Amino acid sequence: MSQDVPTRLAAMREAARLGGGEKRIEAQHAKGKLTARERVDLLLDQGSFEEIGQLVTHRCDNFGMAEQKIPGDGVVTGTGLIDGRQVAVFSQDFTVFGGSLSEEHARKIARLMDTAMRLGIPVVGLNDSGGARIQEGVVSLAGYSGLFLRNVQASGVVPQISAILGPCAGGAVYSPALTDFIFMVDGTSYMHITGPDVVKTVTHEEVTSEDLGGARVHASVSGVSHFTCNDDAECLVRVRRLLSFLPLNNAEDPPRKECDDPVDRRAEELNDLIPESANQPYDMHKVIEGVVDEGDFFEVQSDFARNLLIGFARLGGRSVGIVANQPAAMAGVLDIDASEKGARFVRFCDAFNIPLVTFEDVPGFLPGTQQELGGIIRRGAKLLYAYCEATVPKLTVITRKAYGGAYCVMSSKSTGGDWNAAWPSARIAVMGAEGAAKIIFRREIQAADNPEFEEAQKVAEYEERFNNPFDAASRGFVDTVIEPADTRRQLIKALDLHATKRTSMPAKKHGSIPL
Ligand code: HXC
Repeated sequence: MSQDVPTRLAAMREAARLGGGEKRIEAQHAKGKLTARERVDLLLDQGSFEEIGQLVTHRCDNFGMAEQKIPGDGVVTGTGLIDGRQVAVFSQDFTVFGGSLSEEHARKIARLMDTAMRLGIPVVGLNDSGGARIQEGVVSLAGYSGLFLRNVQASGVVPQISAILGPCAGGAVYSPALTDFIFMVDGTSYMHITGPDVVKTVTHEEVTSEDLGGARVHASVSGVSHFTCNDDAECLVRVRRLLSFLPLNNAEDPPRKECDDPVDRRAEELNDLIPESANQPYDMHKVIEGVVDEGDFFEVQSDFARNLLIGFARLGGRSVGIVANQPAAMAGVLDIDASEKGARFVRFCDAFNIPLVTFEDVPGFLPGTQQELGGIIRRGAKLLYAYCEATVPKLTVITRKAYGGAYCVMSSKSTGGDWNAAWPSARIAVMGAEGAAKIIFRREIQAADNPEFEEAQKVAEYEERFNNPFDAASRGFVDTVIEPADTRRQLIKALDLHATKRTSMPAKKHGSIPL
């Protein structure tokens, strides 16, 4: 009898490896998708995967399911290494009941998440699923609920990353939505609460799955996803790269990398970057790439709210989170999307001990009924809240405009900025000179013999007074005025200095962020 065990085990292992069988694997490949196991192998350092729960099967007797049991039950779970560091990974197998989530499938993921929290290691979820296992009913729904609870418990404790590599629909979308970053693959993945058929019935709209929830709409319109990839392999490489910037958990600092880029490297091109006219755009990527190690900026949500850039980079080998107004898109103005994009990123960095570096050139908040009625007051407040709440080192470089409420929001000194520098081209004021002069000198301009000349004079007067860094510097709202070419050296020095920063918010259960 005992001799039977190795034979049985080998057969079960083979069945688990095959999943839904060769035909379904071929169908998966024909769609341009990899299998669950191929994905795990590509994600992890070679040979490092340790599988857990390979022999788990479902317990459903409905609709002939008792005769259809495949070891693993449609999800591969385990731990492995990425760049030599441990991660927990689950990978849904679309060849087994469409990757649908049964009670046991859910339990496997839940156990993995519990393990990840206990060990303090990130969770990477590779999602490819038809949703709740239809044959199982409420136990499957309860399974999802248990995962949602764990997603929230793990939030801010270990990084959680979701790759959507196939269907992800209905309430199932809320597990990835609760994680920190979502990757999607163009053409093969989609996420929506209700599919095209339901949409047609309820709202009479005709829409394709791609237009409702494909990678491109979520990257550029809804802001649901953070990264769009061309295929599975590219996606998995980028998940690895994202993790390289992050600590394993909230009690650790991010990994420090050897830095070959001289810490005192000057970026001469930055001295000539700011255009003569304050209304002319320039590309803030040039500032970021000129300053960070090897010009390597890992941008997040590059196609959404392009007026605000966010992403990871390193300075002197240390991970930093970059937030930057982008004058080349909508003049770098803050609007609802930019505020929410920035707020979430700032909170993520703060939760995982990643210092924030802010590059500021902001003319203000976007005016208009669309923004006001859309709730720019409560939604713009999120970015303000996130910056105020963040206790990681906060370094700010004002490259040009820092106007009005937007000045306050963008990590200003009085909201807890640790090191606030300005380039000589900085203009820090309640608003631009033209608008300001028209308001405060209205009577003088109207009464003048030559109102146009008078207005120009007053604009110049206001510019002279406020549109420079010196008024702010003389009051200590700017710590130092720096040469643009020297920004890298200055930031790295400030980052080194603030590495020992210790500060905390008043004790509370949690704040009440204007969600
Ligand atoms: C059980 C499922 C399944 C499911 C697919 N399959 N979805 N089995 N439960 N939810 C099975 C199919 O029967 C089929 O089995 C195999 O997976 C592949 O499915 P196909 O339909 O052949 O594949 P494809 O044409 O690529 O279409 C994929 C799909 C479609 C779009 C995902 O299968 C589909 O619409 N499935 C149902 C989706 C759904 O309504 N799910 C419930 C959503 S509600 P064979 O044996 O033929 O290979 C939900 C609530 C969650 O999830 C709530 C959380 C709070």
